[in-house]
Amino acid sequence: MDSILVTGNGPLNGQIPIAGAKNACLTLMPATLLSEEPLTLTNAPRLSDIKTMTLLLQSLGAEVSALQDGKVLAMSSHDLTSHTADYDIVRKMRASNLVLGPMLARLGHAVVSLPGGCAIGARPMDLHIEALEALGAEIELRDGYLHAKAPGGLKGAVHEMRFASVGATENMVMAATLAKGTTVLKNAAREPEIVDLVRCLRAMGAQIAGEGTPTIEIQGVDRLHGATHQVVTDRIELGTYMLAPAICGGEVELLGGRLDLIGAFVEKLDAAGIDVAETDKGLKVSRRNGRVSAVDVTTEPFPGFPTDLQAQMMALLCTAEGTSVLEEKIFENRFMHAPELTRMGARIEVHGGTATVRGVERLKGAPVMATDLRASVSLILAGLAAEGETLVSRVYHLDRGYEHVVQKLEAVGAKIERIKG
Ligand code: EPU
Repeated sequence: MDSILVTGNGPLNGQIPIAGAKNACLTLMPATLLSEEPLTLTNAPRLSDIKTMTLLLQSLGAEVSALQDGKVLAMSSHDLTSHTADYDIVRKMRASNLVLGPMLARLGHAVVSLPGGCAIGARPMDLHIEALEALGAEIELRDGYLHAKAPGGLKGAVHEMRFASVGATENMVMAATLAKGTTVLKNAAREPEIVDLVRCLRAMGAQIAGEGTPTIEIQGVDRLHGATHQVVTDRIELGTYMLAPAICGGEVELLGGRLDLIGAFVEKLDAAGIDVAETDKGLKVSRRNGRVSAVDVTTEPFPGFPTDLQAQMMALLCTAEGTSVLEEKIFENRFMHAPELTRMGARIEVHGGTATVRGVERLKGAPVMATDLRASVSLILAGLAAEGETLVSRVYHLDRGYEHVVQKLEAVGAKIERIKG
């Protein structure tokens, strides 16, 4: 298993290009299942999760080719040969459950493995099931698989979600594009990845209004056609690299960065003493003066502070002046980076969903272990600012969501290398 060795060595300066969004691409790819005609995605990120989704779609009979070094995904679901998403693939990546809605809409039946537990929380699928049942699907659990069918086809309905789940919104919106009649989804998630999915579906001929608001209305159509769509910028990769100059000092421009994707995060950076300016090409980030100030952070669905940036923000706050309180409201077990940061000299106490971070002057390098995707990158950020060497093991987590992380950080002056093992 590979590791990453980081040596803290002062300010970072230069530019980092931001890739297309992993979580947008993972919902855009299953959209190919809705149409017999080709769907092409440009600006796709080069990540292991994208390869996993590729394998899943291919196992269903879709053709998926990665072109231009993986930045373009050419997909065609003309002939689907299977309607079963196998446990072997689904257990590797929860986003596999996003094939459920499209398959049900296109084929009238689908069998999708339940993903099982996950490092950051239980993550059940009840909200997905309720949403699809509202459209008339019959779903039962047998042998660890959800067996879903819609004998008379899906029918539009009014449905209010109990919680604005990102994945359940995506599954229901995709399914409703081919349902008969009108669907109104209330308390829908508003994440930019959902807006991006709707833009793509609209390019495929879907009739949808209200994306980015809590109410999405979908007028079912008989069929969707082919399209080419550019994947939106990855707001979490963006926020992660914005923290690099925030933690180390210097000035870094994030190419392709957009404020509207991360408003709540930028507000917290400002309160901590980090300047963010819009440029022609993206966003420029620098630390005002001296140590950053402590700030309190509560994770919330979009447009609130994203849970996917909580671990990285904690890395920053470990060296802030004062005490910060971080509340994790989306996942019940998303502080596994805290004990690892503690190994580096951070002072963190976790009680349930609340972490209290007492800032120290400087972290110290240590061998640490990545526990999930965002936790692993928070340890790299902490290592960039720590005294001495930090060896982050189990970096396969990182490869799921960050392309070329070593090259991107090296380009702005970080001392970082991947050690094969
Ligand atoms: N939930 C339920 N029942 C459901 C669905 C969700 O209880 O049927 C709960 C989950 O257990 C969780 C909360 O609702 O506690 C939020 O889950 P949501 O469905 O909104 O998230 P998701 O679709 O599973 C996506 C991202 C996550 C990101 C969350 C929240 C993808 C592929 N994944 O997950 O990304 O944290 O939204 O923004 O889009 C990551 O990239 O590191 C990552 C974990």
